[in-house]
Amino acid sequence: MMLRISDFRTRARSRLPRFVFDYVDGAAEDEECIVRNESDLRALHLLPTCLRDTTQLDTSIEVFGSRWSSPFGITPVGFAGLVRPHGDMELARAAASIGIPFVLSTPSNDRIEAVRASAMNGSQWMQLYVMGDRSIAEQMVRRAKRAGYSALVLTVDATVSGMRERDVRNGFKLPFRPGLKTLVDLATHPAWSLSMAMSGSPGFVNLTETEAKASPQVQAALLARTMDKSLTWESLRWLRSLWEGPLLVKGLLHPQDAKRALSYGVDGVVVSNHGGRQLDAAPSTISALPAVVDAVEGRVPVFVDGGFRRGSDVVKALALGARGVFIGRPAIWGLAVNGQAGVNSVLRLFADEIARTMTLLGTSRVSDLQPLHVQKNV
Ligand SMILES: Cc1cc2nc3c(=O)[nH]c(=O)nc-3n(C[C@H](O)[C@H](O)[C@H](O)COP(=O)(O)O)c2cc1C
Repeated sequence: MMLRISDFRTRARSRLPRFVFDYVDGAAEDEECIVRNESDLRALHLLPTCLRDTTQLDTSIEVFGSRWSSPFGITPVGFAGLVRPHGDMELARAAASIGIPFVLSTPSNDRIEAVRASAMNGSQWMQLYVMGDRSIAEQMVRRAKRAGYSALVLTVDATVSGMRERDVRNGFKLPFRPGLKTLVDLATHPAWSLSMAMSGSPGFVNLTETEAKASPQVQAALLARTMDKSLTWESLRWLRSLWEGPLLVKGLLHPQDAKRALSYGVDGVVVSNHGGRQLDAAPSTISALPAVVDAVEGRVPVFVDGGFRRGSDVVKALALGARGVFIGRPAIWGLAVNGQAGVNSVLRLFADEIARTMTLLGTSRVSDLQPLHVQKNV
């Protein structure tokens, strides 16, 4: 029975070849940061306030003038097409169907325009990596604007890729040349292998403006030139000249950076450590959140991601001042298990758990959640 988020992880593990599961599940170096994300959330407890009328429960929030049915969204995950053909579109559609936003990754495998067209009733944000050749970012921003994406999210914690040892051990690198171990892996996961054989290997179709598919070598070279290490806060002026809508910075942890983001006119920040995939020594996001919330003083919304596996985890972050939470791997596990329907089940589970937790806390609205509801043991 699929009762909890971790059930989806277990099922995804059996459905996916090992190297794909590990690509999603893995993190940097000793994988301690990813563990901290989850364990620090668990170490916080929720204190209910009793005998409150919760008959009119409202879990919705407003962000940049649009309403989310529940206070969470899907964070950008690159290479979702490796998990399932057209995974980006399935994620976008699932998010739209329950009324929450979806953030499309720079190294996504469905085209910016196609993802938008597949879920016009929903809200999509565009995540941006700025690579050595800045014209790549420029064309992506232009296209996202034209297609109707409603916010731009600049990721700032991936100046170099973290050392993900599982990928190295599995020989998973681009361009992909499977070794014997991987061939056995593929043979023992025929459903996945067949679906990939039928759809063609996923490419990073958004790095080039035209629909013509760049060769795997060209794509690998483009990605290898990640990232533009000369990017600074000043570069936000350049992005501003390309994008008038809400601009967010994702991947900051330091309250000083949050203050700096404000001084550069950023419209929101996402407290993130990239799900533990970059700096393994980074603190958990839930432990970094309160100082960022204090620094921002309510001037822009603060979002957070990393390690959220229960609705109650989401509620803890909201009580500590996050406007909303983003989830990554759980949505991908849902995708691996049953495509859009699997993602839908995961999102429903989160939404139901959030509603139940808020009711048990005696809070009818998200704005009723306060630090007083959190007992800090971390
Ligand atoms: C497989 C995978 C790929 C990711 N790709 C991106 C990406 O392209 N851009 C980005 O900003 N973050 C990326 N992230 C980080 C997520 O946006 C997010 O910060 C993280 O997954 C949140 O933690 P969670 O997976 O524990 O929910 C990726 C994460 C995973 C697991």
